[in-house]
Formats: sequence, C-alpha cells, structure tokens
Amino acid sequence: MRNNSGLVLWFTGLSGSGKSTVCARLGEMLEARGIPYVNLDGDKVRAERKNALGFSKEDRDANIQAAAEMALEAARDGKVVLVSFISPYRSHRGLARKRIGDGFAEVYVNSPLAVCRERDVKGLYARAARGEIANFTGVSDPYEAPEKADLELRTDVESATESAARVFDYLCLEAVKRAARKAGQALLSLYDSGLKGREKAYGGGPVTEADLESERVILESLGGFGIPVLSEETEDDFVRMEADEVFIVDPLDGTKDFLQKTGDFSVMIGLARGGRAVLGAVYWPTEDKLYFAMKGGGAFVDCGGVVRRLAVSSRKGPDAVMLVSRNHRLPKEIEIAAEIGIRSFKEVGSAGLKLCLVAEGVGDIYVNSSDKTSEWDICAGDVILSEAGGILRDLKGERIKYNKKDVRNWDGFRAESGRG
Ligand code: ADX
Repeated sequence: MRNNSGLVLWFTGLSGSGKSTVCARLGEMLEARGIPYVNLDGDKVRAERKNALGFSKEDRDANIQAAAEMALEAARDGKVVLVSFISPYRSHRGLARKRIGDGFAEVYVNSPLAVCRERDVKGLYARAARGEIANFTGVSDPYEAPEKADLELRTDVESATESAARVFDYLCLEAVKRAARKAGQALLSLYDSGLKGREKAYGGGPVTEADLESERVILESLGGFGIPVLSEETEDDFVRMEADEVFIVDPLDGTKDFLQKTGDFSVMIGLARGGRAVLGAVYWPTEDKLYFAMKGGGAFVDCGGVVRRLAVSSRKGPDAVMLVSRNHRLPKEIEIAAEIGIRSFKEVGSAGLKLCLVAEGVGDIYVNSSDKTSEWDICAGDVILSEAGGILRDLKGERIKYNKKDVRNWDGFRAESGRG
C-alpha cells in the first residue's frame, strides 16, 4: 500500500480479550473526527457469510484470507480498517501481513487466558470446558501469541477507552511518519535545484519554495484527521487555541543548512495534547533517518528500514558532548559549557536534529538561548528526547507547554541526556 491509502489494524487475541470492545471505542473516536473506517469483526463476518466456516485450522485459514481480502479492498479506498479476528496462527497472520503490505499493523490484544475465561462474556469457555465446543481457542486449540506485534494492548489492566486511545495515537503516529517521509522526499527533489531563500519578517531566518512545498505535502497528508495544524509557514488563525489536540509542524527545519547544502535539515511533525507533546516524528532526508516516539511507547529511529530503540548516553560532566549550531553560538551557551567543563563540541544544523541526536546518544547537551525559535522547532523532538530518557526544559527550568497563544520560545531551551 502506498502513502495516501488507508491502514489495516489487525487485532488478534483470545476470545473475550476485548478486541471487539476496543474496536467499537476506536470506531467512535474515528467517527467523531470524520475519519472514514470500517470494522470487520470475526463474529459478524462469520454470521454474514453464506457458506459457514468452522474452526479447524483450514477453515480459520480460509476465514483469515477472506478477511485480508476485504481489508485490502477497504484500505485501497483510503479507509482505516479495523480487523478483529482471533487469528490464532502466526502463519495465517503472516500471510495477511504479506498480502496487505506496508499499511498493515498487528495489534495484540493481550489479556491472559485466565482473565478471558473468568470474564466468559459469551459463556463459551464454560461450554468448551464441558466439551460442548470442539477446537476452542485457548482450551482445546492453540493460540500463538505475536512475538513482535506493532502494538500490544493490555486489556486486563487498562480500560477499553485507554486501549482505544493508544491505538488512535499509533494511527496518528503512523500518519505523521508517512507525512514526514513524503515531505522529506519532496525536499530532496528540490535540494539541488539552486533555490534562493528570502528573509522572514521577524528575523526567523530564510524561507524558500522548498519550505512551502514540504508544508503543502504535510497539510495534504494530515488533512483527513480534522486536527488543527500550527505550521511555521502558515498564518496562524488561532482556531487551534480552542482545540485540545494540535499538530505542530516545521516543514523544513534548518533552511540555512538546506541552502548551504550541509545536509543537516529535517521535517518535524509533533502532536500536542492538553499542551504537552505526545507524539512526533523527525525525518532527516539526506541520511534517510526517521526518528519517532509516542508518549509511553519509547523512542525509535528507522534507518533504511532497520528500526532501533533510542536511549540517551551515559557520558557525564566534562565528558559530555555539546551540540552546537553551525551558524551561531550565544554567550549563555558558552557559559553553560564552561560551567560543566565541556571540551567537545559538535556542529549540527537544525534544532530538531540536535534534539534527536541527544536522544540517540550522539551528543549529550544542546542549549539554545535565543528567542528566535518557536514551538514547531521542538515539539516533535521533545517527545522523542523524553522517550529516550532525556529532558527538555526552558532556561527557567520549566517543561515546555505547547499550543500557547504566543508560540515563540522566549525563554530558550536546554536539552540534555539527564544522566549528567
Ligand atoms: S478465527 O480463529 O477464525 O480468527 P474468529 O475471530 O473469526 O476466529 O471467530 C471467533 C469467534 O467465534 C469467537 O469470539 C467465538 O465467539 C466464536 N467461536 C465459536 N467456536 C469457536 C472456537 N472453536 N474457537 C474460537 N472461537 C469460537
């Protein structure tokens, strides 16, 4: 499946694990935002089918294959597809993943067998225990739990609403990752075309046709979410102030570096909820590195298809490496470096990339004491850094609040590994 098409969320788990309940809640969330979706539920799809399938391995295989075909068709239509089938065999789920391709995500609805048996919503576990139902999953038939699901829901310890909210965030993050990549590819195609920048009014640095093209791609990709967007190159209409959720976007961070061809520029998309950064992606086109994180889910980097978990370094004090701009170094930054006794400095363009490089452990501290940056320079990097174990604060030591009326970072910021 390609960029603008839908996504298949394949929910697998024991009978009674909560698949249908989570999907129903998630459906309500999608509905409320006007996001087109379909819900394919094992029980319902089986009931609607004329030639009833049973529960032998072969019949389950046919059932899953038919579900995969239906899901693929709906996803090609641009819909979000919620598939909730027990789908107990790894091999069957593997085939569905292969058939659907890029836009497939396996969601493991994990509730221990004892809990499902105890709940026994449909009374089927009791009947299976009495031997009235043959091949009952978890009782007289196997359930092969996913070894590496894209997302795992612990429905025994979190509510269906909490689980659904996590899936929604996963969905948002996938859309944000796709949008950042797509915008980054648009930037690369303009990289060698000799674009010229013009200075922005308040000294916010240069802007080019590339910034605008990248922003266009992002707005188009995220438009379907019905979430307001605060973006560097779009005039702020403040409608966002009434919303709890806002995408905060820098279509091209490091425009100067883009023009100087240092390679250090990035696309940044964050989502703030209730004033806090909750998920985000930073794409570094010239390195094909995609950094991303979701609150509570860890931070990762996808480098040419290989995904690694990010963790800040443990270098301390004078051994720390300070990341600095290629274009400016302010007295406050020099003062902080001297206080710590830092001897190593590494020049990197793009504020967002510096945050990610602290998250990755390449550097340990990055201070920006200017008042020239804004929320879009740090929102995505904030969640990536904190999920990697680091800390981002303003220079007064406060956590950053997002979706403020005035989006400038007047108090600068300081990002560090937090282990120093
Ligand atoms: S799957 O294995 O082929 O993916 P599916 O999700 O479609 O299963 O159907 C599972 C539902 O069928 C269960 O939630 C339960 O209500 C019902 N059911 C009836 N018999 C069985 C059985 N032997 N094993 C599992 N579920 C069964």
